[in-house]
Formats: sequence, structure tokens, C-alpha cells
Amino acid sequence: MRKAYLLTVALFALAFSLASASDPSPLQDFCVALKDYSDKSAVFVNGKFCKDPKLVTADDFYFCGLNIPRNTYNKVGSNVTNVNVDTFPGLNTLGISLARIDFAPYGQNPPHTHPRGTEILVVLEGTLFVGFVTSNTDNRLFTKTLNKGDVFVFPVGLIHFQVNVGKTNAIAISGLSSQNAGAITIANAVFGSNPPINPDVLTKAFQLDKKVVKYLQKEF
Ligand SMILES: *[C@@H]1O[C@H](CO)[C@@H](O)[C@H](O)[C@H]1NC(C)=O
Repeated sequence: MRKAYLLTVALFALAFSLASASDPSPLQDFCVALKDYSDKSAVFVNGKFCKDPKLVTADDFYFCGLNIPRNTYNKVGSNVTNVNVDTFPGLNTLGISLARIDFAPYGQNPPHTHPRGTEILVVLEGTLFVGFVTSNTDNRLFTKTLNKGDVFVFPVGLIHFQVNVGKTNAIAISGLSSQNAGAITIANAVFGSNPPINPDVLTKAFQLDKKVVKYLQKEF
């Protein structure tokens, strides 16, 4: 009994001493997420509950429809289809996900960050101008024009964007090093928060006229 207790304490100490910047490693072959819990208030875990392995089927490891073009008729002219743990439960605990990004001509995936994942992007169709900015140590911008078959990587957490600079639709596929990389779209988060950030804060932070801040807060 005492031995087991000491072992538990030692394991906890070990677990908390290992800091990790990506998803924790899987603790078993797989852990397919339950789509619904009857009692949502019961418990929260890092990730999702696992489906009983006996009930898991091949369909839990399968997703289809990523060949279908998405509607890009919106203000930014792009549409992101996420294949993450929310839409594909088999990804639970595996530290990986995928997205398809459709771009209208001159459409863009506006500046955003993924707090939990590095992104590797491959262009399937069209020409994209892409870039990311390093953190505040120097705020360096790295950019590249990508054509069909070209690959670019956006390091975890850094602000990045993609712009379709061609006259045709563009398609890209991104892999992300998280089952749930998250996305913070800068303009939406800053000017479209709920409730709104006090305009005085944004006026000074962005060195803008307060009227412009109020206009932007209405837009987002
Ligand atoms: C993305 O495309 C889907 C299907 O084509 C559509 O239902 C959805 O509203 C689109 N999202 C945006 C942000 O335009």
C-alpha cells in the first residue's frame, strides 16, 4: 500500500516536471473521442474521453469530403475546413490535424496564429503569397510566393497569413502538430472581442484615432 502511494507520488512528480510545447504523447494505441457525453458537467480532461476500444471501428479513423471546394463568398475570400479532433474523433491524443483552405481570386486567410500547433502547408492549386512574423524580439517578416507543389512551414504560435495572388481559385492543405491547434484571427480577436475591449485601450495600442477604432469594432 505504502509502496504504491510512493510510486504514485513519484509518477506525479515526474509528470509535472516534464514541460511540453506540443500535445502530450498518446498513452495507448488510440483514444477515439466520444462525440457526446450525457452529462457534460461531469468531468473535463486534457483532450477528450476515449471511446471503449471494443466499440471502435475503422470509420473512427476515417474522414471524407476534403475534395469538396468550399464557399469563399465572404469578406476575406477564403474558407478553412478543419479536420481536427472536433470533426474527426479518431485524432484524440495523437497530436496531429489537417485543414483544407480554399481561396477566391485575391482572397486571403487573414493574419492569425495557432497557439498549440506548427503548420505545414502545401499548395495544391494556384499561387499563394505567404508569410509569418517572429515574436517581439525583432518582429521579422519572412515571406514567400508559393506555387502548386510548394511547401511552407509556419512555426507554432507566430502570426501568419496566406494571400491568393493569382487570378484563379487556390487550394492549400495544412497539417498541424496538434489535435486542436486553435486559431486566433488577430483583427477578430482584438476588434471583435465579446464584450469589446475599451476603445481607449485600442486607440493607444494601435496609435489610431478613436473614431477609427470604433469603426473597426463595428466591422468585427
Ligand atoms: C465555408 O463553406 C461552407 C460550405 O461551402 C459554408 O457552409 C460556410 O458558410 C463557409 N464559411 C465561410 C466563412 O464562408
